[in-house]
Amino acid sequence: MRGLSPHKARYKRLYNRLAITGVTATGRAGWIQRLREVGTSVGCRQAIEFGCGTGADAEALVASTGWDFIGVDIANVALAVMPDRLQRICADVTTMDPVVLGVNRYDLAYCAFLVHLLTASEKANFYWLVSQVLRPGGIFMCLTASEEDLRNRRITRYFPSAYTFDIERYLPIETNVAMLVNAGFRSVEVEVVKLGEVSAKQELQFYESRASSILNLLPRGEVDRGLARLRSALEGSGPDEGVGERKREWRRTAMIAKK
Ligand SMILES: C[S@@+](CC[C@H](N)C(=O)[O-])C[C@H]1O[C@@H](n2cnc3c(N)ncnc32)[C@H](O)[C@@H]1O
Repeated sequence: MRGLSPHKARYKRLYNRLAITGVTATGRAGWIQRLREVGTSVGCRQAIEFGCGTGADAEALVASTGWDFIGVDIANVALAVMPDRLQRICADVTTMDPVVLGVNRYDLAYCAFLVHLLTASEKANFYWLVSQVLRPGGIFMCLTASEEDLRNRRITRYFPSAYTFDIERYLPIETNVAMLVNAGFRSVEVEVVKLGEVSAKQELQFYESRASSILNLLPRGEVDRGLARLRSALEGSGPDEGVGERKREWRRTAMIAKK
């Protein structure tokens, strides 16, 4: 993978660094459960995750289902941290040849918080790749965020530019759905997924480690000021609304596309 574009190289560095620091995603039980339910409904045997990172979701899913699994990610260091028993390929999902993965091979394909890292044309290429590698009747589950999710995130209050940046990165759900249909999917359903409860402490650790890519795109001063306000709110000692709110359920939006 020579000559990565600047944004891809930046994300690759970020997720390699997070893999070394051991930061993992928070609030995932609800997502794993939906993957298991939908995969089971199509008799899943072969699953593939795009943007699998260190494979935390895959490990939980494979342990409870026994499905064959392969993970794809651009971040080589993150993949090296993945448990040995999981298969992996280091590749850029926006330029990958479907033949490498196997055309019509997978029953279930999924990704979580990957597509906002891709430009609009890269998203279209990626959706086409997924449609090629799924077998007819196979399902693609794509966890992302709707405009409403972005507006309701706690960080929208503390990092004023985050919403503006993210609206551009995520694109409306309807636009993503139209791209999936263009890529060859027969039907696409949209659902809100309850990811699980996240404690104030976990939430603070997540943002303080800059695990959310948006914090790496904002001006440094805004990040420092926002983190200080968030810390005081989450620790219950500051003037912000939200003080004393110790746990919160994270909800995001998934597109479930059938080939
Ligand atoms: C926000 S992280 C999500 C990781 C994991 N799915 C999770 O939810 O915790 C996005 C992942 O996508 C990977 N990624 C970003 N752009 C990619 C690309 N063009 N091709 C393959 N992987 C990519 C990153 O390296 C990172 O591991």
